[in-house]
Amino acid sequence: MPKIKEKRMEELPKLDNTLIYTEFDDDNPAPKGKWNTEVFENDQPIVLELACGKGEYSVGLAELEPHKNYVGLDIKGNRLWVGATEALEKNLDNVRYLRCYIDHLDQFFGENEVDEAWIVFSDPYLKKERKRLTHPKFLKHYRKVMKPGAVIHLKTDSDVLYEYTKDVIEEEGLELIDDEPNVHKNRPNDPKIGIITYYEEMHLEKGKTIKYLSFKPI
Ligand SMILES: C[S@@+](CC[C@H](N)C(=O)[O-])C[C@H]1O[C@@H](n2cnc3c(N)ncnc32)[C@H](O)[C@@H]1O
Repeated sequence: MPKIKEKRMEELPKLDNTLIYTEFDDDNPAPKGKWNTEVFENDQPIVLELACGKGEYSVGLAELEPHKNYVGLDIKGNRLWVGATEALEKNLDNVRYLRCYIDHLDQFFGENEVDEAWIVFSDPYLKKERKRLTHPKFLKHYRKVMKPGAVIHLKTDSDVLYEYTKDVIEEEGLELIDDEPNVHKNRPNDPKIGIITYYEEMHLEKGKTIKYLSFKPI
């Protein structure tokens, strides 16, 4: 493992805003159903950044919307370290990071506990539809923890993931709220859609067009 990655992985469990759970550790249960009472200690809405990578959206949105609580989730701890460290440096009380597989969401969040979710530049998995984070299999995971009427936001460079998600929304009879095929041309002044992540920066350098969808999974 490269030295910097090793160092970050060692530091991650010690960061006050990061949660890591080992299976079957009864002494350290996940705060399922208790994110408001035990983690954030307030009653603000809970918003997930799924596959957050370096967590830029959690930090950016938490600054824009201090009246909401943000949780960034990813399996890659060395990436989470970047967002977690930045959130601590900025004294953002309304951000946490959780190292986990999104497939296990209902082990970490209770029914109706989540108010909103962002999926930003998730892998389009060109050959493996079932791994796409907007595949019906994942929507089932989200429904287990999201409130009725909760909104999912998708931002992507991928035409495949964008068109695929619109097909899933239609096939599942879901409510499409917003569909913007060229974010930077048509929504230059939207501060939330305008947050730029590590992957978005790479796609923009290659001249890719960034797309945005929002919909209700329930
Ligand atoms: C292409 S990166 C995007 C990261 C970040 N959102 C960005 O825009 O820079 C995709 C991320 O999804 C995470 N990921 C993919 N599938 C996952 C899953 N099932 N559970 C947890 N993390 C996942 C990967 O670890 C990776 O960090």
